[in-house]
Amino acid sequence: MRSFAFAQDDPRILFGVKTVLALETSCDETAVAVLRGRRDHAHELLASEIASQVAAHEKFGGIVPEIASRNHLIYAPQLLDCAAARIDLSEVDAFAATSGPGLASSLMIGASIAKGLAIGFGKTYLAINHLEGHLLSPFFHGADGREQIKPNVSLIVSGGHTMSVLVRGLTDYQLIGRTLDDAAGEAFDKVAKMLGLGYPGGPEIEKRAGGGDPNRFDLPRSMPDSENFSFSGLKTAVRYLLPKIGVIPSREDGEGPPVRSPNNQESKRDQLSFERSFAFAQDDKLLEDLCASFQQAIIDVLVTKTIAAAQKCHVDLVTVSGGVSCNQELRRQLGEACRRAGFALRTAESWLCTDNAAMIALAALLRLQAGFQSQLTEEIDPNLALAL
Ligand code: KG4
Ligand code: ZN
Repeated sequence: MRSFAFAQDDPRILFGVKTVLALETSCDETAVAVLRGRRDHAHELLASEIASQVAAHEKFGGIVPEIASRNHLIYAPQLLDCAAARIDLSEVDAFAATSGPGLASSLMIGASIAKGLAIGFGKTYLAINHLEGHLLSPFFHGADGREQIKPNVSLIVSGGHTMSVLVRGLTDYQLIGRTLDDAAGEAFDKVAKMLGLGYPGGPEIEKRAGGGDPNRFDLPRSMPDSENFSFSGLKTAVRYLLPKIGVIPSREDGEGPPVRSPNNQESKRDQLSFERSFAFAQDDKLLEDLCASFQQAIIDVLVTKTIAAAQKCHVDLVTVSGGVSCNQELRRQLGEACRRAGFALRTAESWLCTDNAAMIALAALLRLQAGFQSQLTEEIDPNLALAL
């Protein structure tokens, strides 16, 4: 990460109790958390507030940046008030915010608020990489957690990112592989949209996949010999499969031709969704089997590449984080593969997998305890890299 400087003039940094307040506004969740670190390396979550914007974006089938930033402006002060009810803000040692990657207009709001608070209270500002928050989230524990960051291969798998990273220790990260096109969560969201399911698509597909046959449809596992990932071919394979099995894909996913019906757009959409439902009604296992086959194709790729990366890097530990790691079948199969290959697996609790401020606060606290601080002149970076 860029432009951190050691705060060597602050003798409390390495030894004292430290408290950080973090804001996360990189995408469509507004979140604020306060985390206190103790001398014995344990940490205590004093506040964690999240305002979800899912409902505001759902009808558009994806995130609308302007709506996201307007909502951050409304929710962030309310969440800060909730946090301030739990702790006197003058006790906070550092104010942190996600500085990238993410939507510029969203990042800017959290970062500006954190900088303003740091200036107002005369405290440290910390710019945190959202991906570092995900990557450290499996190490988040409650009041008694004392876990140090152990070397591991970390799979970060979310709506915006899919990557594997060698973690040697705090701030020592090396990229192993990343997606060359869609992120795994993005593929879940786009395929769910084609199937007329809700947003976010991952939980919708997982729900239906539970009762389905993962072997019914033969879907591609892209780039088997590479450390990188690719999911857009899988998404396209589903798109071409649908008409062959009698399902009309939703054209609202931005990829097919637009529905041209100037005066009765709604009724045309209703008709399409009726025809899709009709196809699914003809074969009551069709939707479940499709979802299960698609989900299995993603899981196979994630598990195989993660195990290969861990073997290559000679680590003992695999970690997984990000929204897609909420998926219970991914956790089960990755756990099983790690056990067979002799690796321990650490997952974050589900509430820490999707975007939240507690993981940003943990990254900020660990950095503060290690003597880092950011300059107030540090800008947000929508394309901020975790490691090269
Ligand atoms: O980490 P996150 O909240 O936001 C990003 O940083 O992108 O991840 C959101 C993504 C969405 O694409 C969503 O569909 C996916 O995580 N997701 C899931 C599940 N829950 C959320 N994907 C598969 N199975 C799930 N249970
Ligand atoms: Zn995220």
